[in-house]
Amino acid sequence: MSVDSLDIRVKKVEKSRIHEIDALNINFGKHYSDHMLIAYYENGKWAPPEIMPFHNLYFSPATTFFHYGQAIFEGVKAYKDAQGNPTIFRPQDNWKRMNRSAERMAMPHIPKNIFIDGMKKLIDLDRAWIPTSEDTSLYIRPFMLATDEFIGVRPAEKFMFIIITSPAGPYYNKPVSIYVQDQYVRAFPGGIGFTKAAGNYGMSMYPTQQIRNMGYDQILWTDGFEHKYVQEIGTMNVFFVIGDKVITPDITHDTILEGVTRDSVITLLKEKGVTVEERPISIDEIEAAHKAGTFREAFGTGTAASIAPIYALTYHDDKMMLPPLEQWDICNWLKKELADIRYGRIADRHHWNLKV
Ligand code: COI
Repeated sequence: MSVDSLDIRVKKVEKSRIHEIDALNINFGKHYSDHMLIAYYENGKWAPPEIMPFHNLYFSPATTFFHYGQAIFEGVKAYKDAQGNPTIFRPQDNWKRMNRSAERMAMPHIPKNIFIDGMKKLIDLDRAWIPTSEDTSLYIRPFMLATDEFIGVRPAEKFMFIIITSPAGPYYNKPVSIYVQDQYVRAFPGGIGFTKAAGNYGMSMYPTQQIRNMGYDQILWTDGFEHKYVQEIGTMNVFFVIGDKVITPDITHDTILEGVTRDSVITLLKEKGVTVEERPISIDEIEAAHKAGTFREAFGTGTAASIAPIYALTYHDDKMMLPPLEQWDICNWLKKELADIRYGRIADRHHWNLKV
């Protein structure tokens, strides 16, 4: 089905709210652009999506997603290239991951033309909302909800797929302090750790609140059997530079989100000739490297966070301070290289930027 056969109906706002945005001072996640996309799934099929003014939604209190969390989401970003043309960064990878999440959560696959073509049309319409200063973008939030009105527990039969967008500055505007969690668990083999299910984030709120009260920014989760191997940070995947190698936890065992930024980072590093190891990495190995003076850099990667340097990693009483950021060559190079590709300042040699 082409986008034309999808026939996306568009109802435009009468008056844009864009003047409410201070383009030089944009926080993450607080403002929403003029339009949103909605598609309904019922009787085993998707109806063509519609684009309409951003508005609040109205649901019966018995709607299943409120109660049982059959809900998934994605995070994607749009940029403007050097000529001012909108591009979307690797949305096909988010589409594939959303469908992997959907499968695990007993939700229907979203057809590519609804996800990709619908997103392109929405971004095209709201292109004025894509900020252009460094470290800014239009954050795109696709999500799907189970919308049966039924209090019993069973996979739903009716769903809504929605895309909203939000002009965004950096998720973290300074290096972060991370606490290694060995009491609570995020994911275990056979679970939903590899999905972007709402429940993965809901369960993290209490442990995150606790470590925030202790002065840390985020949690680094460890495995559920031994609390020995690190998995990912609450909002991003994690990388460690030890000696001349870059190490990141492998994504086997269904426990770690297959990050699109993670994959971009691995691709760029390998292309540059840096050794990247995707393998289990224990907190003991990280502590030993810190004692030996070979733990050089640590950073998180994610769509929202992009590449976020970690200045301290705390495990029990051991607060491992990383060297000053000016001395980090890998993370600083990656940040610039990825930004240059996204903003169209250098060749998009991996065909990551989808033109709108
Ligand atoms: C993203 O990086 O897009 C996410 O969905 C993570 C969330 C913490 C904002």
